[in-house]
Amino acid sequence: MIFRICPCVLVLMLAVTAISSVESFSSVGFTVPKAPRSPLQTKKLRATRRSSLERIALPVVVSSLFPLQLPVQSNAETLASLTRNYRSSPSSPVVVIGAGGRVGSKIVRRLLKLGLNVKAVTLDGRDLGLGQLTGRYITSPQKLEYAVGDTRDLAQMNDVVYNASAVIFCASASKRGGDAKSVDFLGVSNVASACVSNTIPKLVLVSSGGVTRPDSGFRVTNMFGRIMDYKLLGENELRQIYSSNPSAKVLNYVIIRPGSYSEEPASAKSLLISQGDIATGEISREDVAFVTVTALLSQKVNRATIEVFGNRGGGVKMLTSLKSRDDARKEFVQEVKKEGDYGNFFDKGVIYTDVEMAKMDVVSSYEPKP
Ligand SMILES: NC(=O)c1ccc[n+]([C@@H]2O[C@H](COP(=O)([O-])OP(=O)(O)OC[C@H]3O[C@@H](n4cnc5c(N)ncnc54)[C@H](OP(=O)(O)O)[C@@H]3O)[C@@H](O)[C@H]2O)c1
Repeated sequence: MIFRICPCVLVLMLAVTAISSVESFSSVGFTVPKAPRSPLQTKKLRATRRSSLERIALPVVVSSLFPLQLPVQSNAETLASLTRNYRSSPSSPVVVIGAGGRVGSKIVRRLLKLGLNVKAVTLDGRDLGLGQLTGRYITSPQKLEYAVGDTRDLAQMNDVVYNASAVIFCASASKRGGDAKSVDFLGVSNVASACVSNTIPKLVLVSSGGVTRPDSGFRVTNMFGRIMDYKLLGENELRQIYSSNPSAKVLNYVIIRPGSYSEEPASAKSLLISQGDIATGEISREDVAFVTVTALLSQKVNRATIEVFGNRGGGVKMLTSLKSRDDARKEFVQEVKKEGDYGNFFDKGVIYTDVEMAKMDVVSSYEPKP
């Protein structure tokens, strides 16, 4: 027993040290000087660390006392167990809405590469040529089906998500598909309602960084049909649907807010993740596809909203013009390693749920009108 307890104590000490140094870890990549904290902020940050301690230290102790029950997995094993969680099958695929888009098609490729069954939903159900993938993305055409689905049509959304193992929403306003109000707001609302009515285990929404920040690059982007306003309204509606519906209690969602897109290849080593809409920067569409699929597979990110950026030398800036709550927000930036690709990506830092974020008062109060 002593041999079990000693490593346990050591691991616990390491965990405590890691948690108490979360501040220095979380600001990796930024050189923004720390401003003094108000007593309220300090209290909230302490409470946050306490709850992190409870969430991290207890599993650490349990896992070191019972090493056989919780074995350390290799990346290949982790990935295999992650994909097993979804048990996708031809009758229960991962449904990708907006599959014909530039991010959507990359997401479909990644899912197929993982061996998952995919239903690729587009406005016309067209063949996207993704079933005959070669080279890096060798897959079986039987794993992929194409379906028609317009997010403006709730009945159609109920049909396309029926029996899905998970749903990814990466559609957005287009000439054929409708304006931002009908796709990015009402379309998201339809899909969230359909997922809850059909008890779909997880919905991942690709939204956008900066949606709560009218004083960032937001203004320019928002000139295109108020797209940023409608994306935020869509997010809010999704959160509301999940929080107000008792049958949604066991269902999960993740909202991903990427920085501005580039067509660079995927980052080799790490990405930056923030919460609270606190930073701005670029990210490649390939990395957005990676994070979306990882968020879908990971059990560690649930009912949460995250921003994500590439990590190529100084491309990310804090939104320092936002004076209020800035200091608390800096605590929420994490550099996340992509070691082993999908395996353990979200396991290293703490991703707070939307409810936890609201309790810590680090959520913007910006509320656009529909
Ligand atoms: N561009 C950026 O810098 C940036 C930054 C952050 C976040 N984002 C967001 O990231 C997401 C993915 O971006 P992307 O570049 O992949 O966009 P994209 O290439 O324009 O793809 C959007 C897809 O949505 C589909 N769509 C439109 N209306 C629809 C409807 N009513 N029902 C079903 N599907 C519909 C479109 O289909 P059709 O092709 O058939 O019209 C299109 O394939 C979008 O939400 C975008 O706003 C973009």
